[in-house]
Amino acid sequence: MAFPLENADLTDLHDRSEEIEDLLAGAGPDLVSALQAIQRRYGFLPRSVLRHLSRRNGIPLARVYGVATFYSSFFLAPRGKHVLRVCCGTACHVGGSTRILEALSDDLGIQPGETTEDFQFTLDTVGCVGCCSLAPVIAVGDESYGRLTRTSAVDVAAALRAAEDTDATP
Ligand code: FES
Repeated sequence: MAFPLENADLTDLHDRSEEIEDLLAGAGPDLVSALQAIQRRYGFLPRSVLRHLSRRNGIPLARVYGVATFYSSFFLAPRGKHVLRVCCGTACHVGGSTRILEALSDDLGIQPGETTEDFQFTLDTVGCVGCCSLAPVIAVGDESYGRLTRTSAVDVAAALRAAEDTDATP
């Protein structure tokens, strides 16, 4: 998935109309396919692009939003580069996922469903991710981290942050 356009003003379509037109032309007439293409490109569904899609394809904006909000895989706001998904399935709940969620929320300064201002982290909850024996678990991309405590959960976020800093060092 493409990382959200940092600092891009997507309310101004003038210099992006050609790019958006190409994107939508390639997606075809199916609304879900168009939404998937938009999200692949921008990392979320920018309001301005949804308005463009509505006008271009003659689909009422309410219907566009109806579909966009029906599927949990679509996002109406930019997501962080790292999405920390705290498993809240039964085993993880019993194992203390609430504490893990609180610790990450406190550390990152965001609530579940929110993204940090620097777009580095989004905090989410998820159902069972399939490694209950390691509960409590968080999933980040394809990686899962298990048997977490409040401290080790925050350490996961710190390690991701440190890796970013290292990558950014010339
Ligand atoms: S309940 Fe969390 S991995 Fe299964």
